[in-house]
Amino acid sequence: MECLEAIFTRRSIRHFLDKPVEKEKIKKAIEAAHWAPSGKNNQPWRFVVVKNKDLREKLAELTISGRIIREAPVAIAVFLDKNVSYHREKDIQAIGASIENLLLALHCQGLGAVWLGEILKNREKVEKLLKVPDSWEFMALISLGYPAKEGRSSRRPLNEVIGNWFD
Ligand SMILES: Cc1cc2nc3c(=O)[nH]c(=O)nc-3n(C[C@H](O)[C@H](O)[C@H](O)COP(=O)(O)O)c2cc1C
Repeated sequence: MECLEAIFTRRSIRHFLDKPVEKEKIKKAIEAAHWAPSGKNNQPWRFVVVKNKDLREKLAELTISGRIIREAPVAIAVFLDKNVSYHREKDIQAIGASIENLLLALHCQGLGAVWLGEILKNREKVEKLLKVPDSWEFMALISLGYPAKEGRSSRRPLNEVIGNWFD
């Protein structure tokens, strides 16, 4: 898929087919996430892949978006490794960039995904459940799989988001 086409056609997907996702596709998407830019190239992102149904059920109980986590065959939890952090704000920006790469790489491979943030209210419970090192801080959960239904979204007109333009 062409680069801009991928960006403009990606949508959050919240309904999934009961169809397994190939390990290679998941790995490729994480590799794309890992190629995001980061301040000082510190690569602060960390990932945990959850296919296990019992574990997904436990994650599902921690958010109002639980139905999505149950339906999607794969969840990827994204963390910030505080051991390599050098500037919290910039590290979180880098994590955001890596998540967008992840979403686009999934989309380019025919998969659908949604970034789940509401579950962050249970950050510590997720960290415990997924048995991550103490230095890993939970940032987001991405649910993914083959789409069962297209996503729909819109954007404000471009002129509302561009401020001054100094030619
Ligand atoms: C930081 C962040 C948190 C989000 N949290 C949730 C969430 O908890 N549940 C959900 O269904 N979608 C969540 N989303 C997805 C947004 O709702 C979605 O990206 C937005 O409505 C635009 O739709 P689009 O991704 O299809 O363009 C989140 C997105 C971001 C970037």
